[in-house]
Amino acid sequence: MKRVAVIGAGAMGSGIGQVAAMAGHEVILFDAFPNAVTKARDTILLSLNKLAEKGKITDQEAKAVFGRMYFVDQLQSIEGSDLVIEAIVEIEEEKKKLFALIEPLLSETAVLASNTSSLSITGLANGLKNPERFIGIHFFNPPVMMKLVEIIPALQTSDEVTGNVMKEITSWGKTTVLAKDTPGFIVNRIARPFYGEALRIAEEQIATPAMIDAAVKGLGGFKMGPFELMDFIGNDINEAVTRSVWTAMHFDSRYRPSQMQVNLVKAGWLGRKTGRGYYDYKAPVETSSESLTDEHKFIFNRILIMLINEAADALYYGIASREDIDMAMTLGVNYPKGLLQWADETGIQECVRRMDMLYFQYHEERYRCSMMLRKMAETKKTFYE
Ligand SMILES: NC(=O)c1ccc[n+]([C@@H]2O[C@H](COP(=O)([O-])OP(=O)(O)OC[C@H]3O[C@@H](n4cnc5c(N)ncnc54)[C@H](O)[C@@H]3O)[C@@H](O)[C@H]2O)c1
Repeated sequence: MKRVAVIGAGAMGSGIGQVAAMAGHEVILFDAFPNAVTKARDTILLSLNKLAEKGKITDQEAKAVFGRMYFVDQLQSIEGSDLVIEAIVEIEEEKKKLFALIEPLLSETAVLASNTSSLSITGLANGLKNPERFIGIHFFNPPVMMKLVEIIPALQTSDEVTGNVMKEITSWGKTTVLAKDTPGFIVNRIARPFYGEALRIAEEQIATPAMIDAAVKGLGGFKMGPFELMDFIGNDINEAVTRSVWTAMHFDSRYRPSQMQVNLVKAGWLGRKTGRGYYDYKAPVETSSESLTDEHKFIFNRILIMLINEAADALYYGIASREDIDMAMTLGVNYPKGLLQWADETGIQECVRRMDMLYFQYHEERYRCSMMLRKMAETKKTFYE
């Protein structure tokens, strides 16, 4: 058994703490705000009781897990921890200030990690006394339910720390994928066109959000369409992730935020949480019985090829292995199939043809075909055979 400290007892921190305690570790959950600590305690207790009610764990186990968790509002209490995972607000200076306070409390061998979604792990490691023991451990929301965890070594991280952390998080029952420290890591980078291309199609007035959602669900087998999903995530959150990846990618037009979404955020139409987004959640839900046409096919193919192109490009730049790219998208955002597998099924030459067609039509850099696909088409290779 290890001592795991989680810093920041919000949505992510409380879930991560619960996962670690369920894996048998002693967990110190710290928040600078006592109210947040109390709230986390209540949330975790409720979650454990629900798991017990559903028969996923026994009552005894639920009690034991809760008994291994310590809820604290004094940072000093994390002293002697073997692993510290930070999950406070997404502000670089705040995180760095915190690390400077944490490091003196840790032994030489303890590992320090951040759950950041968008900040550079390498940048966060810079300034630490022992940057080689710093790493990104990126859980998905909600951490108790989501299987995937992206492991992101900083440039400074030692191979030993990376290997140990992969093993540790796997032993918590999670599936780990290894990602290069680049904007959005794997999932938040490769998923951008799911939203961005759908928004672009709507902005061009080719189709309505409802039609695009129907195409993606009906033809692709996705559980939610892009607009339903953006409304579910919250347009403010989704737009901020896009903007952050776009900025960090030096304003590459592939990731450019959409004016349509910006306007929704300005209006306060954030999605389900405000009762209105692309859809009106106060009005009775209309179920569409529209049958799928060639237009739906055209829309779905355009979104899919942009996703495939993004996945192929991530492989080209060594962001992750082919297996990890496909695993990340199926487990992290519930895609029905890995995108590289989908590329093989579509045919690599067909993928190139579809991208070149878009580029020919628009003459925009956004629609450039990844060199990965082009080289593979030339040499008649596939991703998996
Ligand atoms: N919400 C998501 O879907 C998601 C997914 C993956 C990663 N993340 C990342 O996880 C981190 C936390 O996100 P969240 O959604 O849990 O946020 P949250 O707002 O729910 O929780 C943040 C918590 O940190 C506490 N806090 C703030 N400053 C602190 C400090 N200096 N010291 C100690 N505690 C402090 C706050 O009181 C709050 O309880 C962020 O880095 C975010 O990017 C979020």
